[in-house]
Amino acid sequence: MTNDLSPIDRAKFVAARRSCDYVENGMRVGLGTGSTAAWMVRCLAERVQNEGLEIVGVPTSSRTADLARQLGIRVASLDEVKWLDVTIDGADEFDDNLNLIKGGGGASLQEKIIATASDRMVVIADVAKEVKTLGAFPLPIETVPFGWQTTQALIEETLVNMDVLGRDSTLRMNGDVPYITDEGNYILDLHLKRIGNPRQLSLVVNQIPGVVENGLFIDICDTVVIGHGNGTVEVRDINAGTVNEEHIDILESDNIFAGSGD
Ligand code: A5P
Repeated sequence: MTNDLSPIDRAKFVAARRSCDYVENGMRVGLGTGSTAAWMVRCLAERVQNEGLEIVGVPTSSRTADLARQLGIRVASLDEVKWLDVTIDGADEFDDNLNLIKGGGGASLQEKIIATASDRMVVIADVAKEVKTLGAFPLPIETVPFGWQTTQALIEETLVNMDVLGRDSTLRMNGDVPYITDEGNYILDLHLKRIGNPRQLSLVVNQIPGVVENGLFIDICDTVVIGHGNGTVEVRDINAGTVNEEHIDILESDNIFAGSGD
């Protein structure tokens, strides 16, 4: 099954599989959201099944919680566990400093809380997610529904003084109705094209009443595992300053992946 994957799915799969090496017996593990993270949940479930790996998974969304439970991973809430050994999650963009844009899948609030409450955050991504400067991917801002249009106007006004190339924002929709996050909030996607100073933008946007959190992850990610379509992965560790390249074998016995995807 896994040998039939498209290059992009193969890239996500090998990154996901390699990231599971950071998980050891007894760990409390943050489980990310999105198509790459869904591969990781499946790879972890395989280790639970085959090796008897004992872990507690803390999902970053109701979607991931459902998947983890279905696959036999023990699931707990962040309040039950309080602190995590490692969180493994996807990203929409990452730069040289391993700063990220996340939230394309609508789960960045829980993702940020959980990643921040972890000793280590490992990002898994295909190589297309790497950028010199963040911002081509729309930046998600989670806002409370009350007065969201006023919040939107305040955000756009604030952007006048920021180092960005665009200021348009759109309310994320689910068909004809606003997309609602797991926390009952709306998402405004900011089409900034380029974010010159992500740290400043993150701080300033979060000062606006009505904004709950933004999708910039600054100084949170420790390690990125970058998958390529040919089965190689590059592992960059920002703390150790190391970069390693490896090849990941995909086995015919990887049947647990049948019907994969987020
Ligand atoms: C979910 O809210 C996001 O932060 C995802 O982690 C991100 O969108 C990456 O998703 P994919 O792995 O599906 O590209």
